[in-house]
Amino acid sequence: MRAIVFEELGGPEVLRVVDLPEPRPGPGEVSVDVAWVGVNFADILARSTGYRVEGLPFHLGLEVSGRVREVGADVTGFAPGDEVAAFMDGGGYAEVAVSPAATVFRIPEGVGLRAGATLPSVLPTAYALLHEVGRLREGDTVLVQGAAGGVGTVAGQLARMGGASAVYGVVSRLDKAEHALKSGYDQVFATATFDTDVLAATGGRGVDIALDPVGGETFRRTLAVLARFGRLASFGNSGSSEPWTIGPAETYPLAKSVAGFSILGMAAADPQRLREIAEKAFRTVTEGGVELPVSAEFALEDAAQAHRLVESRTSTGKLLLRV
Ligand SMILES: NC(=O)c1ccc[n+]([C@@H]2O[C@H](COP(=O)([O-])OP(=O)(O)OC[C@H]3O[C@@H](n4cnc5c(N)ncnc54)[C@H](OP(=O)(O)O)[C@@H]3O)[C@@H](O)[C@H]2O)c1
Repeated sequence: MRAIVFEELGGPEVLRVVDLPEPRPGPGEVSVDVAWVGVNFADILARSTGYRVEGLPFHLGLEVSGRVREVGADVTGFAPGDEVAAFMDGGGYAEVAVSPAATVFRIPEGVGLRAGATLPSVLPTAYALLHEVGRLREGDTVLVQGAAGGVGTVAGQLARMGGASAVYGVVSRLDKAEHALKSGYDQVFATATFDTDVLAATGGRGVDIALDPVGGETFRRTLAVLARFGRLASFGNSGSSEPWTIGPAETYPLAKSVAGFSILGMAAADPQRLREIAEKAFRTVTEGGVELPVSAEFALEDAAQAHRLVESRTSTGKLLLRV
């Protein structure tokens, strides 16, 4: 089968189309004839920095949609031909991918395979960030960094649906604001000025919940605009490779909390809990109309072009690979 791997770290040009043996599902696993692959920022980090790469060649890919090909021993509830979306720790950029059955989901009625591929990674992540980590309550104000990206696009909609009284987004270029304003955000600010903008919009109070996938200086500036008892959910370091530290001076006076989340960590440590979160998150699509628009699609063998587009920081919504 065709698959995309890299044999060395580097730019998008290190991605190679190779012929690999078709993987078979082991006990508790399902194999999928892949129709669409979701491109995640973590794929770019793996290729460029070695994030979670344990050996080379490395086979990329965290989420796909397609039809069940084969079910492994001990798997119930799936049969060959079922239309599913699946989350897996690698191997998704391929014609056939294998996923733990715990993170294989039936595609909600009416959603279809193409839109189904946008959901397995970002939707449970955004849902967990707001509801489990951020403990969203009716009337809370919410700030989301990277508001026009995959997680950001659904986080705005989920925050609004969850009863937030105001949802603020941050983007690096204001030409992405239009996309975010269609995705649940009330106001969208530029990275350069978001802290003063948030304080102005909230009458100096700050926000109850903030989601930060950027880290470093952005993390520190985001923590500074949390309101009393505010919760900051940290879930990435796209803007900083150095670790950052915080202490009592930043958290004690206004009783601020900082917590983290990793969907890959959750999938490894407690896949059943992830499944429960994902099932609630998927219901927001069927019952609440949450959607993640596909802004560009590429053939599987053109994965490098998709990576270039993410790195240009001009894309919005979700990018897909067509198999
Ligand atoms: N912890 C978890 O479980 C988890 C799960 C999924 C995603 N994530 C993280 O969440 C973030 C968004 O992921 P995604 O898959 O939704 O990504 P995406 O659609 O590719 O969006 C990435 C967003 O990150 C922002 N960004 C900041 N620094 C960037 C850089 N150096 N290069 C490119 N973009 C940069 C961009 O917004 P601006 O240009 O407007 O800043 C862009 O909208 C990533 O940091 C990812 O690692 C974490």
